[in-house]
Amino acid sequence: MKKKATVIGAGNVGATAAMRLAEKELADVVLIDVLEGVPAGKALDLAEAAPIEKHDAGIVGVTGDYSYARDSDIVIITAGIARKPGMSRDDLLATNMKIMHSVTREVAAVAPRAVLIVVSNPLDAMCHVAYEASGFPKSRVIGMAGVLDSARFRTFIAMELKVSVENTHAFVLGGHGDTMVPLPRYSNVAGIPITELLPPDRIAALVERTRTGGAEIVGLLKTGSAYYAPASAAVEMAEAILKDKKKILPCAALLTGEYGIKDLFIGVPVKLGEGGIEEVIEITLTDSEREALNRSADAVRKLVEDMKRLS
Ligand code: NAI
Ligand code: 2OP
Repeated sequence: MKKKATVIGAGNVGATAAMRLAEKELADVVLIDVLEGVPAGKALDLAEAAPIEKHDAGIVGVTGDYSYARDSDIVIITAGIARKPGMSRDDLLATNMKIMHSVTREVAAVAPRAVLIVVSNPLDAMCHVAYEASGFPKSRVIGMAGVLDSARFRTFIAMELKVSVENTHAFVLGGHGDTMVPLPRYSNVAGIPITELLPPDRIAALVERTRTGGAEIVGLLKTGSAYYAPASAAVEMAEAILKDKKKILPCAALLTGEYGIKDLFIGVPVKLGEGGIEEVIEITLTDSEREALNRSADAVRKLVEDMKRLS
């Protein structure tokens, strides 16, 4: 039977994710937004590309009608607003938590067995909202950040060493922000740790570029943030779930004691299969890696506290 994927938010990340889901024929796709016309127009445009791209995925776009999301297997949530001039971080947090809460409630009512992939920022905080609003088990609420941040690290490693990106593997854990934790010891080229291939100062430069990877794109685009790689990252997670691949990917997961962290969504390696998160993988960390992960957890915890104050 064909799978069904709903993407909430037909903006840059949402529309690109819909395109990749359809072109990989992973599922029929429903695109939902609050804007009139935009989701329907983008869905029709994508459907008209299908004869050329050679796929038979169905794509529809609707404004606010969640009945179309009924019985979705996967829901990717990209709805939200970006920070505008004059808007404080708290304003953004307050607005996006309201949006996340309302769209998650709508989705959970019609697609109670779906796996939710949260994309909207601030990512780790929005996972908490989706978890609470959906009432879903923790295995079915997953945040996308680590796959993107690791892909950025892999790209920079491949550029530096002039090797195929396909030969690279990297892990970035922690929250999706300045405190994220790229792990050079667990990053390799064709199985060779990058610590054997690059001097410490070059690794430090690649780590720093990864940490500021989102800002680098914003600085270039000026009017928005990255969306091609974020959409690819969300769809890699969706594919692992829809095809029950048991793929190990860094994702934001609700920890309940793993890594010594409790009741917090944060990026860690997990095994993704048809049930969503099937296992949190605990890797050994050095003291400094563990301290960095704890610092990152503190930053996420602060955002969660801020949300309580704002609600
Ligand atoms: P965008 O502005 O292009 O699209 C957002 C869409 O959400 C808009 O079409 C808007 O109309 C829609 N929307 C707003 N309120 C809604 C509601 N109540 N219901 C349904 N749709 C609603 O933004 P873009 O570039 O697609 O980014 C989306 C989100 O993803 C942002 O919060 C961004 O910061 C985040 N992001 C997260 C990444 C990650 O690594 N986790 C990477 C890239 C983006
Ligand atoms: C990024 O990392 C904005 O979170 C987004 O590109």
